[in-house]
Amino acid sequence: MCGIIGYVGPRQVMPILLEGLKAQEYRGYDSAGIAVLEDDAIRLIRSKGKIAVLEKKIGSAYGSATIGIGHTRWATHGSPTDTNSHPHLDCKNEIAVVHNGIIENYLELRNWLLKKGHVFASQTDTEVLPHLLEEFYDGDLLAAMMQTVSKLHGSYATVALCKHDPQKLVAARRDNPLIIGLGDGEYYFASDMAALIEYTREMLILQNGDIAEMTPDGVRVFNDGAEVERQIQHISWSKKAAQKGGYKHFMLKEIHEQPWALGQTLKGRIAADEKAVELKELEFSPEYLRSIDKVVMVACGTAYHAGLVGKAIMEKLLRLPVDVEIASEFQHKEPIIDQRTLAVVISQSGETIDSLYAMRECRERGAKIIAICNVLDSTIAREADYVLYTWAGPEIAVASTKAYITQLMLLYMLTFYLAEQLGKMSGEQLQPLISQLYRLPEKVEQTITQLEAPIKRIARGMKTWEDAFFIGRGLDYAVSLEGALKLKEISYIHAEAYAAGELKHGTIALIVPDVPVMAICTQREPMPRMISNIVELQARGAFVVGVTWADQKDVIKVSDKALLLPEVDELLAPILTVVPLQLLAYYAAVAKKCNVDQPRNLAKSVTVL
Ligand code: M6R
Repeated sequence: MCGIIGYVGPRQVMPILLEGLKAQEYRGYDSAGIAVLEDDAIRLIRSKGKIAVLEKKIGSAYGSATIGIGHTRWATHGSPTDTNSHPHLDCKNEIAVVHNGIIENYLELRNWLLKKGHVFASQTDTEVLPHLLEEFYDGDLLAAMMQTVSKLHGSYATVALCKHDPQKLVAARRDNPLIIGLGDGEYYFASDMAALIEYTREMLILQNGDIAEMTPDGVRVFNDGAEVERQIQHISWSKKAAQKGGYKHFMLKEIHEQPWALGQTLKGRIAADEKAVELKELEFSPEYLRSIDKVVMVACGTAYHAGLVGKAIMEKLLRLPVDVEIASEFQHKEPIIDQRTLAVVISQSGETIDSLYAMRECRERGAKIIAICNVLDSTIAREADYVLYTWAGPEIAVASTKAYITQLMLLYMLTFYLAEQLGKMSGEQLQPLISQLYRLPEKVEQTITQLEAPIKRIARGMKTWEDAFFIGRGLDYAVSLEGALKLKEISYIHAEAYAAGELKHGTIALIVPDVPVMAICTQREPMPRMISNIVELQARGAFVVGVTWADQKDVIKVSDKALLLPEVDELLAPILTVVPLQLLAYYAAVAKKCNVDQPRNLAKSVTVL
């Protein structure tokens, strides 16, 4: 995945491009570049490495250009080098293009273009785009873009600049996001609203198949050859929400924002008597509800882990079979899905291509689809039958924290909603749970306040950790998976999560003196077995950190360190237990001096297969 920026207007373009790229650096950070139109020629500056390297290369030579495009890259085809960085040019250096996505038929197109005499400079799939535009350009960039995209298979958000159209940018999108910011006599393209919030709150979200033309006089959008209207979205979140707000890293800010984010997710969705969850977004008929015989959840990474918690609670309260599928694997199966299946797609960005394709597969097989998304009007949100937004505000750190916790919140709310709608639980039975759910933001706040300092102390010793294990049973196992992912992705400590009962079927062979084990112990029924597991690990020298309730004296006694959670019903525990695991990963990464917000090889949302 990559970040795109484009600008047309009266102002000097260079600082706008650089700021726009910086705001989207989380989307990809292995190389970056810009192309502006200056003195009748395209000026191209590209560089391997972070945007700071590009900025240095540009220096103070901002020039007078008022139109340009920029790109921050997460490499797919072609390693991160200066030459593979975007923008890419045509043979005559007259057309520059940035692109996010993958052109699946690029080899075929490249061969066709080579035969026509085009010369390629990079190993990227993207480079076919400027050459196709060159091939089709006949004085009309928009028409050339229309012809170009008709040749493409795959996914793209792309913006082109042409020397012969000095006041115009042309863009197209399919399965990758592209936003238009509307200013006063000035217009912007970006992959993410966060890059534009400084300049405007009025945005258009391009839809699949859209081709847009932007000049200082305005924007026109076409689909299937005809001009179309796209609704203007007014963005209400502030610029501050997309900045660090005094925190050292976005991840820490986002961990601390979780009580607020949970409040946003809950807002307006709990009945005054706390006996029902009100999800007005869902309009299920009683017949449809009665027909559901199975739930399928599809998601990737952290969102998949949220789905695992969702499965456990739904199966317990609804007594319906729930499958949770890794979206990328789902495409290689013949899933058993029909009109009686309710599909739930979970995605913070709403743009993860594996999740999008899995969702489309569910739709083709007749399922109704609920999307749980954070990003407003994202592709998944738009294509689903129903959307439940998490309303967590922009999540910038690559490691997902507030998105996960609010996805959990929505999965609880959806479960309670369905429990009532399906007649599985009465308002009276739901009330104690809903009432506690409603107060979870305070409990999360308390968890952060009480545990941040002790976790910082534990993390200091983590510089030397090479491996770590996370164990739990039932709901605690589902959260262990998320704890291990957080630690791996930002601190590069090898971490594995295990269902505690599985240890003795192999993994316990890896336990050597001082190896750290996070033992999540919130579920009361399996507690005696967890205690036995801890004791077994300690007999082999492990350093065990127990995450548990204050009344679990035995867990506290057998653990080397205990992190105590404020009391809630154990069914709701995942929303609290994940917090110390996020903090542990964060402080471990800080102790190891890792790049917390932009871990190596990763990108915020994966819009390639
Ligand atoms: O935007 P999505 O929720 O669809 O993203 C899915 C995963 O790529 C994402 O959750 C990833 O695993 C996290 N960055 C991990 O912290």
